[in-house]
Amino acid sequence: MRGKFITLEGGEGVGKSTQVRALAGALRDRGIDVLVTREPGGSEGAEKIRELLLAGSEERWGPRAEALLFAAARADHVEKTIRPALEGGHWVLNDRFVDSSLAYQGGAGGLGIETVREINAFGIAGCYPDRTLVLTATEGSERARARDSGGSDRIGGRPDDYHRKVDAAFRIIAAEEPERVRLIDASGSPEEVTQRLLDAIADLLP
Ligand code: TYD
Repeated sequence: MRGKFITLEGGEGVGKSTQVRALAGALRDRGIDVLVTREPGGSEGAEKIRELLLAGSEERWGPRAEALLFAAARADHVEKTIRPALEGGHWVLNDRFVDSSLAYQGGAGGLGIETVREINAFGIAGCYPDRTLVLTATEGSERARARDSGGSDRIGGRPDDYHRKVDAAFRIIAAEEPERVRLIDASGSPEEVTQRLLDAIADLLP
């Protein structure tokens, strides 16, 4: 039987990495065999593209080339890592996936959510998540944490206005696809947040 494909999303500094680890642990405690992976990256080729995307100056890539590089990395990740794992019956928990491209390159980067959806549809070739969990924090706390945590790579270091647009785009995407995409309140203790994530995938659990 095919495994379930879960993706975790969110802006900068919402505690996503901590929650990926915690959710993977909670799934394993339930006897689920879960592969944890991340984007950009998650396969040999995609990790190479990650270096191209995140290092260097803002001017290194224009918006279209940047969106295509994310989509190319994702296509390789799907082909080499995600699809084989799902077909082998494993669950896949991905730290970021297509919705990051929709929010960052589409919503904040100015290409438009629909355009970025189209170029990614080609790369993903039908491999959509069973559920996408978007961690959301109140704007003030989110930016404060982002200042502490990020700011060092090409994209994390973009101005506050860019990151506000990312957050707004995630909310639009969740409203467009309410069955797949769920907004999860990232406030409170890490344990509380993990429980909210588990509640949002309760219908998928064995
Ligand atoms: P990473 O160090 O993995 O950050 P995080 O802990 O926030 O996930 O860096 C990934 C950066 O790339 C992050 O700023 C989000 C951005 N990104 C996009 O702009 N588009 C995408 O499609 C993906 C997957 C990530």
